[in-house]
Amino acid sequence: MKDGQSEATLYYFTGTGNSLACARAIAVELGNTRVVPIASLRGEKTVGVPSPVVGFVFPVYFYTTPLIVREFLERLDLSKARYVFLVLTMGGTPGHTVSHARDSLEKAGGVLNAAFGIRMLGNYIAEYNVGDAKAVEEMRGRMARDVTRIVGHVRAERDHIDRSSLAGRMLGGLLFALLGGRFMATCRQRDRRFTVDESCISCGICVRVCPVANVRLADSRPEWLGRCEQCFACIHFCPVEAIQIRGKRTRGRRRYHHPDVTVDDIAAQRSASTSADM
Ligand SMILES: Cc1cc2nc3c(=O)[nH]c(=O)nc-3n(C[C@H](O)[C@H](O)[C@H](O)COP(=O)(O)O)c2cc1C
Ligand code: SF4
Ligand code: SF4
Repeated sequence: MKDGQSEATLYYFTGTGNSLACARAIAVELGNTRVVPIASLRGEKTVGVPSPVVGFVFPVYFYTTPLIVREFLERLDLSKARYVFLVLTMGGTPGHTVSHARDSLEKAGGVLNAAFGIRMLGNYIAEYNVGDAKAVEEMRGRMARDVTRIVGHVRAERDHIDRSSLAGRMLGGLLFALLGGRFMATCRQRDRRFTVDESCISCGICVRVCPVANVRLADSRPEWLGRCEQCFACIHFCPVEAIQIRGKRTRGRRRYHHPDVTVDDIAAQRSASTSADM
């Protein structure tokens, strides 16, 4: 950071840990950086950004910004911010995420200086199987390289937007037009499609990992409450893979979470006290 003194703040949202792992790695390499979970600030009307350098690390959902992140960006007071950047973690198709997040930041009176994408493992098991151990190792290498690249830009407070190819931008735009709007409109109620198998052992992990307290146990089985962010943490962290999505072939598909992120890390997302000085 330019004056060598400045503190940075990194706000993150995560379901399966990719965004948390990236936020932590960026904070360590940048130094003097606070990592704060967006889910811990859901109750706050306005969030004053406490440092001149501020970043937001979150996954791409249906070619756009997750609802919880969008709502958070619009509640920010960015008057102290000098350099604002985004880090998108994704399977590979960012679509309109950067422009939508920029719109939200502008509504909050801020300006976006930089946006970076990191291709991680796609966790959307409603439509595909998640990558295997080899893919996880490859992802670690990509992530390390991207983190170093991003930190270089942030230290220099350089204006920069990662651009996908023209074909990638067209595909992302088309997919958002076809699917993104519907996803946004139905997101919170999409937990209606979640079901639980007899194999459930009533361990309560699905309750603990939900970043928005949308799961409770009733008669020792999970029940969803209709305020879902579609992060898929409950599905991926269930130790016996008992949670399925109705109408999708999720049974037998690999469950995934970032190897450096634990149930406790995800559970801590809801509590402000998890903010970590790195
Ligand atoms: C509901 C949902 C929608 C997703 N949509 C996209 C998408 O449009 N483009 C993409 O590249 N990845 C998409 N993904 C994959 C995630 O963005 C990716 O796996 C991300 O790194 C997960 O981050 P997390 O581990 O921090 O939750 C989607 C995942 C979910 C759960
Ligand atoms: S995490 Fe899985 S096994 Fe544990 S209570 Fe939830 S559904 Fe049941
Ligand atoms: S119910 Fe499951 S998918 Fe929905 S927000 Fe909670 S953990 Fe994420």
